[in-house]
Amino acid sequence: MTRKQMDNDVFTRRMKKYDDEMRWLYMELYDNSSMYAELCDRMKSFFDERQKDLKKRDEQREIDKDWYRGNDMLGMMFYIDNFAGNMEGVRQKLDYIRKCNVNYIHLMPFLESPKGRSDGGYAVADFRKVQPSLGNIDDLCALTADCHKKKINVCMDFVMNHTSEDHEWAKRARAGEGEYMSRYFFYNTDEIPSRYEETVPQVFPTTAPGNFTWLPDIGHYVMTTFYPYQWDLNYRNPRVFNEMMYNFLYLANCGIDIFRIDAVPYIWKEIGTSCRNLPRVHTIVRLMRMISEVVCPGILLLGEVVMEPEKVVPYFGTLEKPECHMLYNVTTMATTWHTVATRDTTLLRGQLDVVNALPKDYVFLNYLRCHDDIGWGLDYRSLRSEGIDEVAHKKYLNDYFRGYTGSSNSRGELYNEDFVTGDARFCGTTASMCGIERAEEEQNEPMMESAVRMDLMLHAYMFMQSGIPVLYSGDEVAQLNDYSYKEDPDKAEDSRYIHRGAMDWKRAEKIHEKGSYQQIVFDTLSRMEKIRSREKVFMQQADTWTIDTWEKEVLAIGRYYDGEKMIGLFNFSERDHTAWINEADGDYKDLFTGKVMKAQGVDVPAYGYMWLKKC
Ligand code: GLC
Repeated sequence: MTRKQMDNDVFTRRMKKYDDEMRWLYMELYDNSSMYAELCDRMKSFFDERQKDLKKRDEQREIDKDWYRGNDMLGMMFYIDNFAGNMEGVRQKLDYIRKCNVNYIHLMPFLESPKGRSDGGYAVADFRKVQPSLGNIDDLCALTADCHKKKINVCMDFVMNHTSEDHEWAKRARAGEGEYMSRYFFYNTDEIPSRYEETVPQVFPTTAPGNFTWLPDIGHYVMTTFYPYQWDLNYRNPRVFNEMMYNFLYLANCGIDIFRIDAVPYIWKEIGTSCRNLPRVHTIVRLMRMISEVVCPGILLLGEVVMEPEKVVPYFGTLEKPECHMLYNVTTMATTWHTVATRDTTLLRGQLDVVNALPKDYVFLNYLRCHDDIGWGLDYRSLRSEGIDEVAHKKYLNDYFRGYTGSSNSRGELYNEDFVTGDARFCGTTASMCGIERAEEEQNEPMMESAVRMDLMLHAYMFMQSGIPVLYSGDEVAQLNDYSYKEDPDKAEDSRYIHRGAMDWKRAEKIHEKGSYQQIVFDTLSRMEKIRSREKVFMQQADTWTIDTWEKEVLAIGRYYDGEKMIGLFNFSERDHTAWINEADGDYKDLFTGKVMKAQGVDVPAYGYMWLKKC
């Protein structure tokens, strides 16, 4: 059999598995068989064009379906220009990435996007063109190939909810071409827009109020859920769906391993609803999953669902009909910072219990900080039962992390303060939020020591959660807030740039200076990562649970896998505490110090952490 015939057989086999369900869902959405036939034809051409190496990767991953569930997976996310100037620069830095024990990099949006109207690259003008200052498509393919050689997976954003107003479709729509107007939501009166506004909340109430933008040049409103220059795509139009799937497959063929589906809950709109998480969104994601299973099964879908847990979980789909492979553990992240500010682990424990009770097939990405703000999406129902009011509590958290309250050394800024609801979100780097910035500025050694410990404790705790940890680039060297965005008129309005500063390689050099906080953080994280990838209790399939400590400041997490057991202890306060856990089952070894002890009445110092493995 020739290679071509073998390939054809592979495609036919996969198609046979999914065609029924795909056709069914597609018809249900669009009732358009010729567009479905076109989709299938194009899937075949993308499959044919897919490079041999990538096809081999697909086949291996079809066999080893759990390839991304090991205990060695560690991600890092960064903006290419901030990290290394351009794609070629990233290639030069792959050894640094490996040195950070990272085997999955998330390249923040790098496709063509207009300067000053880019939303950090989330307003894409051309899905098949790299932003020229960062490189071109050949550079992208070369970078992914190099990464693959070094066993690094590459993730990119697939911004499918909207395009930039500079995208060719948008330009043609603006010029009045009906075919292109139908790819967006255009209205010549405010009747329908105002009906939408009755039920659709705002994403950027301060920086971009409302969900529609009036275009005086053509006398129409266009739907813009995010910024006015990000036009929402209309997925009721099968042309939009098909073309976006072709873009997706095109990028998959450039060697991308993981697609972060940006703002996925928003992709389907209906009047009279919140336009979030509608059932059709799931139809589209399921279709996308099947399309990738046929053309490029080696890739993963990562859904960006920044919502409360009950809304997040459905994006995994079901075991028989999966949608996303991975989702962000966003509520846990926000609850972690709530715990830092309150020194009370009760809510966090409840949150971890919710996540730990989910099927182990669900893979979460755990993180402390990312490129976005922290929205205080907490379990207010539980907090209310303790007499805590939502608005007042958010205000407390925002004051706390701005360093306004006595016990806080944090630094950062508010984001999208909504003067109507009193709501506001928060921005800052992990290190600055832990107090490292202030301690450095005030040359306060005890404060620095405590801040560094808190930073390390948070990482040790994050690494113990089940799922894949992702570092925000710069956190490995405790990078501080960057206030220079205020001088750039394109960024000044968006405080998220405070934690999107360029990697400061000169300061990062300090990892070689013994005793510097950069060295302590870098080396300690490295140790944690090595222990994590060595010890099988960190496997994704491990049982994970929380344990009572009788001290609300101290969180205890248990893990069990294949005969091995471990307990992690994390003190979220600046005081020493004794964790009264009751695991009277023999001796435990502290994986950091080697000390053997009983896992009862364990003294956990201020902002201390312990990984105790059962002997
Ligand atoms: C996602 C991104 C965010 C962006 C938005 C609009 O939420 O994380 O940075 O502003 O989508 O694309």
